[in-house]
Amino acid sequence: MSEYFHAKVEKNVGLMAVLIAVAISFGGLAEIVPLMYQAETIQPLPGVTPYPPLQLAGRDVYVREGCYNCHSQMIRTLRFETERYGHYSLAGESVYDRPFQWGSKRTGPDLARVGGRYSDDWHRVHMVNPRDVVPESNMPAYPWLADAPLDADAVKLKLAALRRLGDPYTDADIDGVAAALAGKTELDAVIAYLQGLGRHAPAQSAASATSGGVQ
Ligand code: HEC
Repeated sequence: MSEYFHAKVEKNVGLMAVLIAVAISFGGLAEIVPLMYQAETIQPLPGVTPYPPLQLAGRDVYVREGCYNCHSQMIRTLRFETERYGHYSLAGESVYDRPFQWGSKRTGPDLARVGGRYSDDWHRVHMVNPRDVVPESNMPAYPWLADAPLDADAVKLKLAALRRLGDPYTDADIDGVAAALAGKTELDAVIAYLQGLGRHAPAQSAASATSGGVQ
């Protein structure tokens, strides 16, 4: 590159900013594009399937109520995390999460492995008033979810939209939405969603063997 060109770039902030942006975007592309083709980031773990209608509806309640403002769903590869929560999170668990709920704010505990940790009844009481089961809790109460019906037509459209994006829902899944949601409330949905979290994660023993503060 000629000296003249270099002097021009150094004296022209606008041109320099544009060239810096170009240089950085090449770096970004080199990092991001390979991830889009790496099998472990785009292939679901064994057993991970698109959300059944009730869980999908619950996930949307979770997003709408902003649960992610206080709860992450991302267990890091650090021993104190895996000892507390279970196996660290893997990309193959979140393949059908649009958008993913990894989050980073933990006013409350991480929820990536909360499925099966408590009974449905525990969740029911906890969501309606957390203080009834955890007296020192500062989690907000969500009593209205127990009275809010689900909109089966809307969930049907969501399944169809997700299918268009590549999620393997069948016609039978979409036709079965109304039956799956019959008589259920938003509270039932969010509990079904919570109970499904982390069910297909590898066993904890595998995490202990490989985590040790690396990465
Ligand atoms: C203002 C912060 C805040 C918000 C918002 C919040 N939580 Fe919590 N959550 C907490 C705290 C703090 C705890 C720990 C005390 C307790 O169990 O109540 C908790 C605990 C939990 C637990 C038990 C986790 C465990 O492993 O013991 C679940 C499940 C949960 N929250 C679900 C939700 C859902 C679902 C929503 C959204 C509808 C939500 N939370 C919104 C703060 C919050």
